[in-house]
Amino acid sequence: MAVERTLSIVKPDAVRKNLIGKIIARFEAEGLRPIAIRRSWLSRQEAEGFYAVHKARPFFGELCDFMTSGPCVLIVLEGENAVLRNREIMGATNPAQAAENTLRRLYADSIGENAVHGSDSAENAAIECAWFFRTTEVHG
Ligand code: CMP
Repeated sequence: MAVERTLSIVKPDAVRKNLIGKIIARFEAEGLRPIAIRRSWLSRQEAEGFYAVHKARPFFGELCDFMTSGPCVLIVLEGENAVLRNREIMGATNPAQAAENTLRRLYADSIGENAVHGSDSAENAAIECAWFFRTTEVHG
């Protein structure tokens, strides 16, 4: 297994519920190391650019409204197999389908307001980490 990096976002719903610490503690307990962290209120431009791959989807406007509805926490996680590990810890996109004890099952309310984001591949992880962090801000 390789040491990888992946982007996690504690989304505005989870920040409103005061869950930042619980979510980061879970990553650490699972062996994922936060190597860059920033609390940020995304601009419309940042949210639309980040989710550009979903631009044609009917939920794109709603997704960007939600992601700009309040502060979120941007995190680069590093660890063995980090992309897949993070996705396992998050659970399915729809919390109703997420496995027990996953972050989305524990903390999310709906498919739109689903507590956390995680990169879906190593290739996208590199793009997503670079979208929010300069290389000088990420120290493994
Ligand atoms: P995320 O992992 O951040 O990547 C894209 C997001 O789009 C996803 O989590 C969901 O929050 C959101 N999303 C996916 N499908 C829907 C949907 N049917 N309705 C609203 N939002 C959705």
